[in-house]
Amino acid sequence: MELRHLRYFVAVAEERNFTRAADRLHIAQPPLSRSIQQLEETLGVQLLERNSRPLKLTETGKFFYLHAAQLIAQTAELESMTRRVGNIERSLSVGFVGSTLYGMLPKIIRRFRDENPTVELSLHEMSTMDQLRALKDGRIDVGFGRIRNEDANIRRVILREEKMIVALPEGHPLSHAKPILALRDLLNETLIIFPKAPRPSYADQVLAAFSDRALEPRRIYEVRELQIALGLVAAGEGVAVVPSSVYGLKRDDVSYKELDDPTLVSPIIMSTRALDESRDICEMLELIYRLYESQKIPYVPRTDRPGDTA
Ligand code: BEZ
Repeated sequence: MELRHLRYFVAVAEERNFTRAADRLHIAQPPLSRSIQQLEETLGVQLLERNSRPLKLTETGKFFYLHAAQLIAQTAELESMTRRVGNIERSLSVGFVGSTLYGMLPKIIRRFRDENPTVELSLHEMSTMDQLRALKDGRIDVGFGRIRNEDANIRRVILREEKMIVALPEGHPLSHAKPILALRDLLNETLIIFPKAPRPSYADQVLAAFSDRALEPRRIYEVRELQIALGLVAAGEGVAVVPSSVYGLKRDDVSYKELDDPTLVSPIIMSTRALDESRDICEMLELIYRLYESQKIPYVPRTDRPGDTA
């Protein structure tokens, strides 16, 4: 059985008509009919109901169609991923979630450009889930996000686990009450979470932090992004649990407090296409660890074995 047979069968199954399927495939109808017959002979099963109009699939045909369509989608994905890997000699597209801009991302990008002046680097803000799709269809080569998502085609490396802290309106009673806060202290406040969509997102990590401790915030206010959350905190609309790198974004009208539980963290995850070991990706990873070392930023140790992925 060849891939061509699968393509032909999928076209017939979707068009429910040999003439339309032949048009779609840009071939004549007789060779198409012969191929489907050959396929049925090779498999020793009947895929199409005889003499049905419009054409109907047998139960076996429906089963075969589902799997054939998946295989064809995977080959298309493989084609675009391979083309991308082959062509990216000197260009690197990076996807990132907005919150990583408050961490090391700007430094990493500047340093990478200094050290690799011939590589054309482009940056694209997108959610972690969009990064996975963009990696697969070759729109980006590296993604920096926060969501742990399983996908056999994607290699993930957890770079570091960033502590969560609380952003409070300046002068809020909790900003003087005690040196360090517990999530429980926030229960009477409006909790501002971001990003509202797409989900899952950092917002769900914050909500899980509460629900894992059997805590329920009194009111939740979902907003589009971190900057809006901070603006609303400054306006006294509520409090937000933010990654600690946001602390660098000093504002007179917002104060930050640490949380007492060291397990309250949000990971920074680097995603690439599985098995894509192109030089620029390896250099970017090396550079990130060098920066962590030189800036004394705690990170998840790498093991440099295939099993070191998250
Ligand atoms: C970081 O803050 O550690 C980081 C941010 C973006 C990309 C890689 C690392």
